[in-house]
Amino acid sequence: MPTDNELYDRLASTWWDENEVLNVLRISLNPARFSYFRTVLLEQEKIDPGGKKTLDVGCGGGLLAEEFARLGCNVTGIDPSEPSIAVAKAHATQEGLAIEYLTGVGESLHFADSSFDMVYCCDVLEHVNDLGAVISEIARVLKKDGFFFYDTINRTFMSKIISIKLLQEWKATRVMPANLHDWKLFVKPSELQAHMSAHKLEQKEIFGLVPNTNPITLFRLLRKYKRGVLPLKEVGTQIKLVKSKDTSNLYMGYAIKV
Ligand SMILES: C[S@@+](CC[C@H](N)C(=O)[O-])C[C@H]1O[C@@H](n2cnc3c(N)ncnc32)[C@H](O)[C@@H]1O
Repeated sequence: MPTDNELYDRLASTWWDENEVLNVLRISLNPARFSYFRTVLLEQEKIDPGGKKTLDVGCGGGLLAEEFARLGCNVTGIDPSEPSIAVAKAHATQEGLAIEYLTGVGESLHFADSSFDMVYCCDVLEHVNDLGAVISEIARVLKKDGFFFYDTINRTFMSKIISIKLLQEWKATRVMPANLHDWKLFVKPSELQAHMSAHKLEQKEIFGLVPNTNPITLFRLLRKYKRGVLPLKEVGTQIKLVKSKDTSNLYMGYAIKV
């Protein structure tokens, strides 16, 4: 089923609601992906993030933008979903965070060449129709020696079973809207690597993200949610994603502009 990006407009008011599906990104995924990006910056690359001009491509409701802003980065977030941008702005104001939010798409960024120290694009690359254009634009606005962080979903048999069948399609277990993801748009690491190399983004690391629970527990938790016994917040809290060598479904990594 083709991906339906307008669902971010329809669900915009739910970005920060712990019992709604978009907030699962914050509860289940942020701890693993953000702590990885933070460790890369602070410990591996010894970078002081304070004041670094940082672009969030496909920021949605600002779930990750607020994490980078709290780290001290000077964050700009862009997203095609106007209602999501409105929610992100309101939430940042409520939290006292100075984040700039603008509507826009990754394929055509309205910023000058080499204007950012860091760009990240998380859980977005598998939603775009022109991956090459998005990576080219990210590389263009990134300064030399700047950092690019990402996470996305691999196009494998495993991702078809987990991300499509289990989470979107099978009546007994689905928790996500049916057209949230289109398997055909998922991105193989080799494809991402080829686009990055073509635009002077040198891949430094890649890691998988896997649930910290075994498949049976995962299935049981999803069934409890479906039966109305367990709220989504609890499911998300109990199914945390963790860094792994297994890149067959979700994966994340970073590159440096050379
Ligand atoms: C799964 S959400 C991820 C939100 C956020 N990055 C996060 O991880 O919390 C995907 C986001 O990508 C946005 N999006 C879809 N197509 C896009 C495009 N071509 N360029 C930039 N963002 C896009 C959607 O509007 C949505 O907010």
